[in-house]
Amino acid sequence: MNTALDTIAPPHAANAARPPRQDLYTPIHRALRLFMCDTLGRVGRLDVDEPREVAQTLDQLDTLLDLCHRHLLHENRIVHPAIEALQPGGTQRVAAEHQQHLESIAALRSESAAVRAAPDVAAALRLYRHLALFVAENFMHMQLEESAHNALLWDGYGDAELGVVHQRILASVGPVEQAQTLRWLTLALPPAERAQLYAELQRHVPPDAFANLLVGARELLDVGAWTKLAGALQRPAVAAAPSLV
Ligand SMILES: [Fe+2]
Repeated sequence: MNTALDTIAPPHAANAARPPRQDLYTPIHRALRLFMCDTLGRVGRLDVDEPREVAQTLDQLDTLLDLCHRHLLHENRIVHPAIEALQPGGTQRVAAEHQQHLESIAALRSESAAVRAAPDVAAALRLYRHLALFVAENFMHMQLEESAHNALLWDGYGDAELGVVHQRILASVGPVEQAQTLRWLTLALPPAERAQLYAELQRHVPPDAFANLLVGARELLDVGAWTKLAGALQRPAVAAAPSLV
């Protein structure tokens, strides 16, 4: 029986020496996977008798659903045309799954609103189970995109062309989505990719704004991860620590 694991290429000596390709999917999917897992855990342990916890947890769920919705639209509007130009019909399966995801997102939004209006154990459990199925489906879906779609993109385009597609995605992201995405990317990326992301931001963001982004990263990361990021950016690890007074 073939499983999603069969689509994960084993490490290959010949590939190890090659620089990594421009990857439109994996970094943002790392962020989404972490955001989904964190939210699923919160919904699963929700205390429906704590109004503040209910509000905070459902706010996070609504933010996750918004981000999933926008992410899917970026893929439909910007990435899929690039794939279809190479192979007509090449996005058919994934596009059909996106349609199912839109329906799931709408259903989850309505269940989230129902729990918010009248929190009870049965409604919270129903929401948790539906969210778990949505996360499971998305994990399979993201694996398909990172394997089959990336294979098509990497065969058909050079990294400079894929870089243009990536810039088009970035240009379509509004400030709220940018901030949410940066939060989960910061937490989800391995150290080298996190450092690369912040080095890129440093090149494009005014110094004051970048200093604020670093304060945000310092607050999110544990000491070890922050120290690695500060070192990679050649900043003192204590420089961006928040004031205690
Ligand atoms: Fe997708």
